[in-house]
Amino acid sequence: MKKTRILGALVFGSIGLVGVALSGVGGGPSGPPSPQAGDQHPSALFIEYCAKCHGRDGTGNTPQGKQLMARDFTDTEWQSSKNDEQLIKQVTKGSEDMPPFGKKLTKEQIESLIKSDVRGFIKKK
Ligand code: HEC
Repeated sequence: MKKTRILGALVFGSIGLVGVALSGVGGGPSGPPSPQAGDQHPSALFIEYCAKCHGRDGTGNTPQGKQLMARDFTDTEWQSSKNDEQLIKQVTKGSEDMPPFGKKLTKEQIESLIKSDVRGFIKKK
C-alpha cells in the first residue's frame, strides 16, 4: 500500500516536470515574438514592415500608400504579370518609391512575404 503511494507520487512528479520542460520550449505568450508568415494573413511581418504603405488588406489604401501610389496587391492582372522572382527582387532592392528591405530582412523572410502575404491577397478572394 505504502509502496504504491510512493510510486504514484513519483509518476505524478515526473509528469509535472515534463510539463514544465515542454512549456519552456514553446516560448509561451511571454516569449520573444517570432513573426512567421503562414500562421496568419497578413503575417505579423507584413503588418510591421509593409502595411504602412500597402495596407493590411494589400490594396495600398493608406495615406502613405496613396501618396506614393503603392501597388494594389488584390489586382489579379498585376499578380499574374509578375513572377515570384521579380517581386522578391523588388522587395530586396527596392525601387524609386519603395525602400529596399534586403538589409532589414532575411532572404527567407522576403520570400515568405511574397509567397504567402503578397500572393495571399488574391488567393483569399
Ligand atoms: C514606404 C512605403 C512602402 C513600404 C514600407 C513598402 N512598400 Fe512595397 N511598394 C511601395 C510603392 C510606392 C510601390 C509601387 C511603386 C513601385 O513599384 O516602385 C510598391 C510596390 C511593391 C511591390 C510591387 C512591385 C511591382 O512589381 O509592381 C511589391 C511586391 C511590394 N511593394 C512589396 C512590399 C513588401 C513585401 C513590403 C514589406 C517588406 C513593402 N512592399 C513595403 C511602397 C512601399
